[in-house]
Amino acid sequence: MHIKSNISLKPYNTFGIDVMAKHFVSVTSLPELKSVLKLEDFPEKLILGGGSNMLLTKPIEALVIHVDLKGISIVSEDSSSAMVKSEAGENWHEFVLWCLHKDFGGLENMSLIPGNVGTSPIQNIGAYGVELKDHFVSCEALNLETLEMKTFNKEECAFDYRNSIFKQKAKGKYIITSVIFKLTKNNHQFRTNYGAIKTQLETMNVKDPTIQDISKAVISIRESKLPDPKKIGNSGSFFKNPVIPLEDFKALLINFPDAPSYIVSKNEVKVPAGWLIEKAGFKGKTFGNYGVHKNQALVLVNYGDAKGENILALSKLIQKTIYRIFNISIETEVNIL
Ligand code: EPU
Repeated sequence: MHIKSNISLKPYNTFGIDVMAKHFVSVTSLPELKSVLKLEDFPEKLILGGGSNMLLTKPIEALVIHVDLKGISIVSEDSSSAMVKSEAGENWHEFVLWCLHKDFGGLENMSLIPGNVGTSPIQNIGAYGVELKDHFVSCEALNLETLEMKTFNKEECAFDYRNSIFKQKAKGKYIITSVIFKLTKNNHQFRTNYGAIKTQLETMNVKDPTIQDISKAVISIRESKLPDPKKIGNSGSFFKNPVIPLEDFKALLINFPDAPSYIVSKNEVKVPAGWLIEKAGFKGKTFGNYGVHKNQALVLVNYGDAKGENILALSKLIQKTIYRIFNISIETEVNIL
């Protein structure tokens, strides 16, 4: 184990924000992770996965622990399904590609989501009609205090839209070390109902799509709408789509008859935050070296060397403006540090 001092976190966060970590260590095994957590010289610790859902706004005094546990294996399988386990430090998209290579179905609609497998349950990642919880079986997590391992089954994770127990009751208490998914080996479910997927498959001239075709379609859609973090720093959706009472939505329709929505329950609808932000005039706006992405207003971007605090100030301005115009509060999806 090698603890480094004064390391720039720029390569470790997809927003590409250049802040210093006073102390930094990468761990590649469970025993190593446990011994790092026992270090008394560093009472404060910050756990870092793929760094894809955070905005760094100040230097980090805590010991940054980069979870770099690797490995993918088939735990069990029968004629129709496979249980696949991935260690936390595997890149999410590479894991999805591994599954597709084996012709294991389930995760294809979630192709190209940035981040690591170990952080995927925290916010129950999702895209194009599929959420992590739809294929999640269980995860193993290390209790930061007792250093004991605990297995969380699906129920215990209390998954919800971009939410789980790891953002609520268990927040900051565990490190997820591996995740098990149940995937199909045949009888794949082809989830192509999402409008953009249908259109993309037509463009690709695919009539009878395979799970690999769906993945390709999703990759094309994402590449056309969402900036590649390797080129333009970003954390995907910066805000969550707000869920509002149906009554409030009806009131909104009076002034904004074109407002889109998705039904959540009998009394609630979800309004795309991207639409609200665009309507408020922020889409494509740049403020020097940062701004709002031109193809997807939900994504804030760093064009190079932007400061986290400036992006944070922009996000607050967006929230305030949305509230003033629409009387709707939008919450950040990204963790602010
Ligand atoms: N829209 C606009 N302007 C914009 C963006 C969106 O008007 O600039 C409106 C359009 O009406 C569009 C609707 O919003 O039809 C929905 O847009 P989209 O299908 O792109 O989905 P989203 O609600 O913006 C969510 C997820 C994305 C995920 C997509 C696709 C959240 C916070 N975001 O975005 O997740 O890829 O659906 O399923 O739920 C992420 O979390 O990083 C992420 C990219």
